[in-house]
Amino acid sequence: MTKPKIAVFDTKPYDREYFEAMNASYRFDIKYFPSHLTTDNVALTKGYDAVCVFVNDNITEDIARNLVVNDVKLIALRSAGYNNVDLRAVYKKIHVVRVPAYSPHAVAEHTVALMLTLNRKIHKAWYRTRDNNFNIAGLLGFDMHGKTAGVIGTGKIGRCTIDILSGFGMRILASDPFPDQVWAGEKGVEYTDLNTLYGESDIITLHCPLTPENVHMINTKTISQMKDGVMIINTGRGRLIHTKDLIQGLKTRKIGAAGLDVYEEETEYFFEDFSQEVIDDDVLARLMTFPNVLVTSHQAFFTHEALSNIAQTTFENIRLFFEKDELPNEVCYKCREPECLREKTGRCF
Ligand code: NAI
Repeated sequence: MTKPKIAVFDTKPYDREYFEAMNASYRFDIKYFPSHLTTDNVALTKGYDAVCVFVNDNITEDIARNLVVNDVKLIALRSAGYNNVDLRAVYKKIHVVRVPAYSPHAVAEHTVALMLTLNRKIHKAWYRTRDNNFNIAGLLGFDMHGKTAGVIGTGKIGRCTIDILSGFGMRILASDPFPDQVWAGEKGVEYTDLNTLYGESDIITLHCPLTPENVHMINTKTISQMKDGVMIINTGRGRLIHTKDLIQGLKTRKIGAAGLDVYEEETEYFFEDFSQEVIDDDVLARLMTFPNVLVTSHQAFFTHEALSNIAQTTFENIRLFFEKDELPNEVCYKCREPECLREKTGRCF
């Protein structure tokens, strides 16, 4: 059988390195494009069987229409999240597959790195000691032991994060529309409603997918319910937080610290070098001025293990579809509803 032709978008040198290593065994016909997949360049997908995209390639309705016209049969996401794809627009036209788990440990460990850095002010200490300033005034932190962590989303990443925080001796509150009480009982995790979680947590960390229901769940109203000095960590998706409200919370000192690996308008900036440019985004620029805000550029996933697993699962997703017509990691907009056929037939349509 002829090998499928794959157009890989938003490719950085590190993506290509891991993909090329994996392709030594699969031998797909791959073209790497450094740019995002956009309305302007979607014409490039003509003649390709599959497109492979990352978190900031937004597959809008318009792009979806063009992919259908170009006879693309598979959208292979090299991410777990799929909020960047208009799943309704491609339903019954193009199958969408993802990498459901590549390393929940990578994201959980980065989450905790943000917490520890902000709490113990490692980012500030690093600058000081490099300047031979060994004064520790202003670097005061708190013991994580005995404090309460509120974990929103107890899937793979949320659970890994909880395991680490439990190791510190923290009390864990959790919220999830599909609570797993057996697991919670074994781990000593208390499922609770969001109001309680907001009111009792010293650190709140977001590990749920972005859905139409939870856009801007962290906003002025919910921030007002939180403890004074709360730390908010987001390694989930940027639009879970209303950033201007977060900034207001920081300005009023209600929020004690924020660690953000994702940002609602990250598409233009994250993964790119703007060190010689003027930043036009005033919200992002304001965020960068706070001493108690740490922004990382969607790098929580970025470990050797995760990149290997992403390449492995993506290639296997593509092979299984084109060689065997199988879609073990398919997603569609009906996946959470009974009409989705995936549970019964192993595919969404
Ligand atoms: P998962 O699918 O294993 O778990 C997600 C959990 O969130 C599920 O238990 C689900 O029931 C729950 N959930 C759904 N809606 C919710 C809501 N409104 N409130 C609370 N819980 C809710 O997903 P996984 O692998 O744990 O990933 C979670 C998210 O992390 C992904 O959807 C993605 O957005 C983000 N992510 C970020 C990365 C990064 O590099 N910063 C890398 C990978 C994922």
